[in-house]
Amino acid sequence: MLVETKEKALIGVIGGSGIYDLPGLEKVREVKIYTPYGAPSDNIIIGELKGKTIAFLPRHGRGHKIPPHRINYRANIWALKALGVKWVIAFSAVGSLREDYKPGDFVLPDQFIDMTKGVRGFTFFEGGIVGHVSCADPFCEHLRQVILEAASQVPEIKIHPKGTYVCIEGPRFSTRAESRVWKEVFKADIIGMTLVPEVNLACEAEMCYATVSMVTDYDVWAEKPVTAEEVVKTMGENTVKAKKLLPKIIERLPEKPDEKLCSCCRSLETALV
Ligand code: ADE
Repeated sequence: MLVETKEKALIGVIGGSGIYDLPGLEKVREVKIYTPYGAPSDNIIIGELKGKTIAFLPRHGRGHKIPPHRINYRANIWALKALGVKWVIAFSAVGSLREDYKPGDFVLPDQFIDMTKGVRGFTFFEGGIVGHVSCADPFCEHLRQVILEAASQVPEIKIHPKGTYVCIEGPRFSTRAESRVWKEVFKADIIGMTLVPEVNLACEAEMCYATVSMVTDYDVWAEKPVTAEEVVKTMGENTVKAKKLLPKIIERLPEKPDEKLCSCCRSLETALV
């Protein structure tokens, strides 16, 4: 592993659409990490928030230059792992597949359905070592609870504590027929393009991972799909709320990882290797 820095951070934050920087970060420095998979989406920004060191990576790169299917997910997770990250807090924009998950609401998914096309680099186990990591409960339950508690302290945020996220390949949106399949046949709650393979790579890397999904639209199952203007407006409002939420999450995380709180850091112990 080639790393051009001695920087370390226990907390990693992956910003999604609309989140390309973190105001309030102190002692900011920028590091370039090299990985066996090539370059991550951008240089990693390291800084202090609420007295804790965090490593921030915008998933699409600054200026939103990388589409979901072109993101180097392995390099991103490898780079955070190389910095010593244990907790990954990811943010992403999603569409809603149900009436009561409204644009502007946040969702903390507890399950996902993978409808990507299998062409993204989706595993670290590609030969040499064969590994099958459990994905039954793909998100860190401890981190999810910390996020839920933090969100309850931000009055503007309405957060749904559970949801099944269907991840499509993109970059196009779904057809109406597909959208009805995700909603009525799969019974998924939200839809996006970036959760997979980020979440399962974090599992393979024995990191705690949770994602805050921020609803921007009702996808296309509803009679009248929302307009691009509405999506942009909602995304802007969601970004403001996410930036209020993050410090509240950070201050609730323990100073050090505690193996008693979850088993994410031991995922390979129970894997079929
Ligand atoms: N991201 C935000 N809205 C989405 C949608 N409707 N489908 C897929 N990804 C999305």
